[in-house]
Amino acid sequence: MSKLRVLSGIQPSGKLTLGNYIGAMKNFVALQHEHECFFMVVDLHAVTVPQEPEALREQSEAVAALFVAAGLDPAQASIFMQSHVPAHAELGWLMTTLSYMGELERMTQFKDKSEGKEAIGAGLFVYPSLMAADILLYNTNLVPVGDDQKQHLELTRDLAGRFNYRFGETFVIPEPFIPKVGARIMSLDDGTKKMSKSNPNAGSYIALLDTPEDIRKKISRAKTDLGREIVFDVQNKPEVSNLMSIYAKCSGQTIEQIQAAYDGQGYGAFKKDLAEVVVSALEPLQKKYNAIRSSGEIGKILRDGAERANVVAEQTLAKVKEAMGFLPPLRR
Ligand code: TYM
Repeated sequence: MSKLRVLSGIQPSGKLTLGNYIGAMKNFVALQHEHECFFMVVDLHAVTVPQEPEALREQSEAVAALFVAAGLDPAQASIFMQSHVPAHAELGWLMTTLSYMGELERMTQFKDKSEGKEAIGAGLFVYPSLMAADILLYNTNLVPVGDDQKQHLELTRDLAGRFNYRFGETFVIPEPFIPKVGARIMSLDDGTKKMSKSNPNAGSYIALLDTPEDIRKKISRAKTDLGREIVFDVQNKPEVSNLMSIYAKCSGQTIEQIQAAYDGQGYGAFKKDLAEVVVSALEPLQKKYNAIRSSGEIGKILRDGAERANVVAEQTLAKVKEAMGFLPPLRR
């Protein structure tokens, strides 16, 4: 396969979870050696809901450090902050003008995030148009994401097609890259809900920086069911199936191997082993995270990443503006 362009982003809102790691970051790491990769911390997306400035700054740096701690090599992949590449905001606006109210209203993430709220920020509504801009700026072929971003990817493809039809071939139509196992890691207290960093119950998710004691406690308290078989059956045993997916992704074993290994054993033994599997998977990441944060390297990594990203993004933006009929940039 020839080299493809890969791009993805993660919001710096709250702590990153095992869901982010399994659904997205593990694939970022896997793709970086084969392809030309851009991974960003999407701070412009984060402010679609209120953020405390100090917390935003801290979390932005923390997420960038987690990218590296999870195994991204800044020499292979460009790691950057979305707000360091101004073309995102500008193309975001242009994509907003191409988006229809009806299609944005159908986005399930918008429905979930705005449900029951009185004051709904307009940014939350046009969030998917900005995400489309993120992807289209880099002529992206593959977008590694979890299952919950599939609908946003479909919208991105529609917007790219609409633009190309109206203004001439400009954008590459991107494809989602979604893992077969672990595309939707579920909450530990409810096997029908996505594991999410915005859940107020910290027992419902495993944060990447949770201590081993916290991880053991959370897994031992994780909801199961009244049965005792370790069997993968999402319909009838959503919680156990979810724990099996976590086991598989953190250990490298297949679901079949796990099922065979725990045949005839109860949930207690399985959960105990699962906790150790997760602790060992996160241990090297946590060590590396602490080393990077104390080294102060992140500033340079983000500067280099933004420099490379700006070159590509500015080229695409110039092409888009010309195709749409904007006057050329002013020269002195
Ligand atoms: P965000 O920040 O909510 O999540 C980051 C990535 O983690 C995946 N993910 C999960 N995967 C499996 N199980 C889970 N429980 C789980 N929770 C989260 C998400 O699917 C995502 O891949 N809109 C995006 C950020 C974004 C973006 C982009 C992504 C902005 N621009 C351009 C790709 C390309 C978001 O809110 O992700």
